[in-house]
Amino acid sequence: MGTHLFRSCSAIRIRTNAALVAAAMLAATTLIVSGCAGDGKGLDQNGELLPPPTPAPVAAFTVIQDTVFTPICSVCHGNPGAAGLNLTANSSYAMLVGVTSVQVPALLRVKAGDPAASYLIHKLEGTQTIGQRMPRGGPFLSEETINFIRQWISDGAPMPVNASVTVSDKKEAIGLPPRGLAVVVTSPTADELLTVPPAQLIVGFDRQLDSTLVNDTTVTLERAQSEPSMSLRVAIHLFVPESNRSTLVVTPASPLPAGDYTLRLRGSGGGALAGLDAVPLQMRDPYHGGRDYTLTFTVEVSR
Ligand code: HEC
Repeated sequence: MGTHLFRSCSAIRIRTNAALVAAAMLAATTLIVSGCAGDGKGLDQNGELLPPPTPAPVAAFTVIQDTVFTPICSVCHGNPGAAGLNLTANSSYAMLVGVTSVQVPALLRVKAGDPAASYLIHKLEGTQTIGQRMPRGGPFLSEETINFIRQWISDGAPMPVNASVTVSDKKEAIGLPPRGLAVVVTSPTADELLTVPPAQLIVGFDRQLDSTLVNDTTVTLERAQSEPSMSLRVAIHLFVPESNRSTLVVTPASPLPAGDYTLRLRGSGGGALAGLDAVPLQMRDPYHGGRDYTLTFTVEVSR
């Protein structure tokens, strides 16, 4: 990278053309501000100054994950996690951004662009109205750390760097068939026994969903009946957050009574659930359609 930048920057300096001197000065300013970072070329083959490249996705979330969520929070917010919140690596983003708080359903856990309206910040500052300040029992995060998280939210809560590159992108690049849309995290977790009916079911995927395919034929919730072949369909609302299109939130229309439940995502047949890249759920190769995905869990009445 060093040599690369050196070449590009000196290439600008050796030009004498008046218009390019101005361009070079502009480039020099860029150099001071950004250290010529990521620019790489400076001028294109026509001698035009190249537009600054789109900045690489901010790594802020990765920093938050590695310094806060993984070492401090995941002790309690594991898989499964307290309050249905899994803050382990590769799961936390899906569980936070655009997802409703279970304690204060009027707020999102993280509202992209709006830290003051993000319940996560209230829980970290101790300004929450329900439950305790986080991390529960302390010690609490420094103001500096909370501000770093606040800044990430103000910046639009961008995804961790790697999560924005889909698995199928990588495969296509090396000539292999695209891999099917995959579920990476759920809340509740598979076969979890819940003593409180879940306010919402969260499904995190490995890439952005085609939300036009999210409907009552692709996503269903059923409660098992005493007759094994019978099951009762439960009324649900479906929601893919605008700011986090790789998460599906399923909200039961009314609290789930005790019972065994199956959430079914349809990856087979026409109009199957698929990513924005049109690759269906759990597809193995282009000659086979996708497969259905099921998540079972039990709600037990606590007495
Ligand atoms: C010692 C266990 C423990 C630790 C550590 C912990 N939490 Fe919690 N968290 C809980 C419990 C239990 C609840 C529910 C009761 C409450 O809020 O006090 C909760 C609730 C929450 C909620 C509310 C979820 C919602 O949907 O309303 C958020 C947000 C949260 N925690 C974030 C964090 C973060 C971020 C950290 C790390 C900085 C953290 N927690 C560390 C136990 C913990």
